[in-house]
Amino acid sequence: MTLIFKSARLLFRPLDETDLDLSIALWTDPEVVKYITGIPSTKEALAKQLPISMRRCAGGCIGVWSLTEIASDEKIGSAILLPLPIEEDDTNWDLVTGDHLPDGDIEIGYTLIPSYWGKGFATEACKRLLQFAFEESPLEEIVATIDAGNSASRRVLEKSGLVCEGLRLAYAEQIPGFRITRQQWIDQNSL
Ligand SMILES: CC(C)(COP(=O)(O)OP(=O)(O)OC[C@H]1O[C@@H](n2cnc3c(N)ncnc32)[C@H](O)[C@@H]1OP(=O)(O)O)[C@@H](O)C(=O)NCCC(=O)NCCS
Repeated sequence: MTLIFKSARLLFRPLDETDLDLSIALWTDPEVVKYITGIPSTKEALAKQLPISMRRCAGGCIGVWSLTEIASDEKIGSAILLPLPIEEDDTNWDLVTGDHLPDGDIEIGYTLIPSYWGKGFATEACKRLLQFAFEESPLEEIVATIDAGNSASRRVLEKSGLVCEGLRLAYAEQIPGFRITRQQWIDQNSL
């Protein structure tokens, strides 16, 4: 399994200690966190969080990736495959340890710097991460959740082939849930 890979316009690599700038650009921006935590983070909190967010498990297939636009060599966002929190309102990083797949659903997610929105990058990232998950990792299905008002993210999931299953409990709330199985992904991607 290689954890560094490309899509047409993006380079994916595991989040590392050089990504504090990216974390700050993303998570201190009120526009970015609007449908996630709602509350921008601070540089101090992000510096403390970075080593935790760099954790991986299951041979590395569960974790956070930094996304770089190949043409400009600029970091434009991040994408995740992480355990979906159900009763808790944030990722339980204690589950991201060891070499086994954590129990429970694994969620896909993506977050971009606003100047890169509206160019198809999130859909490109989501599709490529699904390809990684179903071709390179042992994951049998992937879920996603959104804030009900996050129409752009809903569209990204639909364009990437995930199916809305209605409201479900995640992040300690009833929110729209989506899912795609390995077989559905194979069916969608076989010519
Ligand atoms: C959600 C997000 C990742 C989308 O990124 P993006 O690169 O602009 O997405 P894409 O360009 O691939 O696709 C967006 C789609 O949503 C549509 N869209 C954008 N804003 C919309 C809105 N307010 N209402 C309805 N559709 C909208 C676009 O038209 C596009 O669909 P189309 O290709 O059919 O026209 C980006 O806005 C973001 O980083 N938001 C903050 C973090 C976040 O909310 N992440 C998701 C958490 S679940």
